[in-house]
Amino acid sequence: MECSSLVGAEVGVLKGHTSSALLNGIPDLFLHMVDLWGPNKFSKYLQTGDQASRLTKEQHEQNYCEAKKVTKFAESRRKMHR
Ligand SMILES: C[S@@+](CC[C@H](N)C(=O)[O-])C[C@H]1O[C@@H](n2cnc3c(N)ncnc32)[C@H](O)[C@@H]1O
Repeated sequence: MECSSLVGAEVGVLKGHTSSALLNGIPDLFLHMVDLWGPNKFSKYLQTGDQASRLTKEQHEQNYCEAKKVTKFAESRRKMHR
């Protein structure tokens, strides 16, 4: 349930460190955390050369767990979308 006065989104969360900093720095923020947290071999994202575009399913799963863990302190103010 969103009851914060500020609502935001981070698209491309990876391990959640930016989401964590946002939730920590902005106490009123409700944050939607959006990431595939999974390989997307059909995406143009692969062509960008970003290291995260070549992660395995297992590495993505670890990142999802890490993102969940590092934002747990604000779990009532965040929703993870994958
Ligand atoms: C460079 S990392 C993000 C880094 C993160 N913002 C930070 O501050 O640490 C890019 C992320 O975008 C995600 N991503 C790539 N294409 C996506 C898409 N179409 N929809 C959602 N997430 C996507 C990848 O899974 C990856 O975790």
